[in-house]
Amino acid sequence: MFPQEDFKALGMRGDELVLLDQRLLPSREENFICKSVEDVFYAIKEMVVRGAPAIGGVAAYGVWFAAHDRKNFEQKCDYLKSARPTAVNLAWAVDRVRTVALQSDFDLDEVRKAADTIVAEDIAMNRKMGLIGSEVIRPGATILTHCNTGALATCGWGTALGVIKTAFYQNKNIFVYADETRPRLQGARLTAWELRRANIPSKLIPDSAAATLIRDGKIDLVILGADRIAANGDVANKLGTFALSVICKHYGVPFYSAAPLSTIDFDCPDGSHIPIEERDKSEVTHIEGIAVAPEDMDAYNPSFDVTPHGNITGIITEYGILREPYDVSIAALKEKAAQKA
Ligand code: MRU
Repeated sequence: MFPQEDFKALGMRGDELVLLDQRLLPSREENFICKSVEDVFYAIKEMVVRGAPAIGGVAAYGVWFAAHDRKNFEQKCDYLKSARPTAVNLAWAVDRVRTVALQSDFDLDEVRKAADTIVAEDIAMNRKMGLIGSEVIRPGATILTHCNTGALATCGWGTALGVIKTAFYQNKNIFVYADETRPRLQGARLTAWELRRANIPSKLIPDSAAATLIRDGKIDLVILGADRIAANGDVANKLGTFALSVICKHYGVPFYSAAPLSTIDFDCPDGSHIPIEERDKSEVTHIEGIAVAPEDMDAYNPSFDVTPHGNITGIITEYGILREPYDVSIAALKEKAAQKA
């Protein structure tokens, strides 16, 4: 198989949850230790850990911490779920482990096992998604990606970046352009770090350079992740995704989203129902604490946007690639997943 990355976004060490502190990358590689639900909530909210599947994995262990306090368990689970609103994996993971806690009468070993399973399944699904998704990448392709969807954003390997890595290890001779992804710079700080570590030929670009590259025929396809996919195929992902999809549609460039089943919200009819997190204005007005705008300037800082399903060429999942009409292919996937469960 392809090489395993030599770092981990999250993992348990004894009774502590160890996170690679993504706020410090790429300049420092330091761990952030969680010993309580409150620590886990803080780590998600402040983006010590981020990326939809990674948040789900971390929240799963958060429920294990919560299960130590039977009296306040429900309240602590709800508190965890409120850390960030857009990525559905958070609520999905909390609910899945919460059910095990209740059904096992707070058997802590069972609860911990349920969290471990979420992590193990995520890695296995990402590997599978990588193989399925790499089929849309022809040898010699140049790929554009946005935000960070690699091992840092998941429990291991990655979604969209996992597909890209798979194609690279299949010797497809690919080249990657990574959007820097303002304002939090997940592309510059995290995707570039992962691309360099894996030695994947690549360049970092300012977000606004993508349109020119696409117009000039320099991009064969765009692959990025998802934080929540509605039942009609609308995709909420990092701010800037929607704009990229419009440009791709205009110039006829394939546009793929890669995400596991846990990112699909079957109860959400369309993108207008997806809650979009708005983060602090200082993320726009400041970089590393240094003002890049007048102190009294206001800012609008939505963390995600919604891409309409009509702009999406395909949604890569561990069950195969979903295509239009998405309401039909997603309903069929729901059925298939239910049969497997
Ligand atoms: O705000 P972030 O960094 O948590 O946003 C992450 C993204 O938007 C990713 O593209 C998405 O979670 C998919 S990660 C595999």
